[in-house]
Amino acid sequence: MSKGSHYDYKSRRFEDVSIRTQHTKIMASKILSVIKNQNPKIFVELGTFQGGITLAVHEKFPELEIYTFDRKNYSGDEIRKRIFGNNVHFFYGDILRLSQEEKKLPEGKKKTYFENDIDQAETVIEILRNEQGKILLYCDNGKKVDEINMFSKYLKIGDILGCHDWLAEVFPELIVEGIKGFKVLEGWPENDLSRFWIKVR
Ligand SMILES: C[S@@+](CC[C@H](N)C(=O)[O-])C[C@H]1O[C@@H](n2cnc3c(N)ncnc32)[C@H](O)[C@@H]1O
Repeated sequence: MSKGSHYDYKSRRFEDVSIRTQHTKIMASKILSVIKNQNPKIFVELGTFQGGITLAVHEKFPELEIYTFDRKNYSGDEIRKRIFGNNVHFFYGDILRLSQEEKKLPEGKKKTYFENDIDQAETVIEILRNEQGKILLYCDNGKKVDEINMFSKYLKIGDILGCHDWLAEVFPELIVEGIKGFKVLEGWPENDLSRFWIKVR
């Protein structure tokens, strides 16, 4: 990720709060404009990091239900409790691992990579399957291609799929299955670092 792709989102409500995001200011504002234009009821964010995008979205759309996932809690519960409402739900663990999968750790090896040993893929799937309103699923984890291919099939017609690092990490030939039945949002520039699709069939 290039240096210029980080910025600190400054809270509109808390003077002492600014949170790092790994998006440029322009891309962050484009995410907000997709939400404004598409009016989803639920925002599922894969890859919270410190929560810069989470907070930007929450402050602009305080009614939006947000489910955000990361393997780690980078900012800590204290600040999160203070600045986020009850409709923002943080989950920790591995979003790419289903709980019935065999744990492939060599015997005796302690797992330290994840904050906890919770498998969260099923939680993501459950949310995508069961939430009633229009969903925006935004893939910005360490393995965006896998996320798209794993989770996009649970979206319904009218839901929105988005990803970061388009043509940097996510390439069309890697997500042929993942975007079957989806169409790029009208007018979306070919080379933007984020990309959004709508499920049409
Ligand atoms: C590119 S960062 C997310 C940036 C964030 N969306 C932002 O704008 O600031 C990717 C995040 O995915 C998390 N991550 C990587 N692999 C994961 C996995 N298998 N399960 C859950 N989180 C994972 C990392 O801890 C990291 O915070």
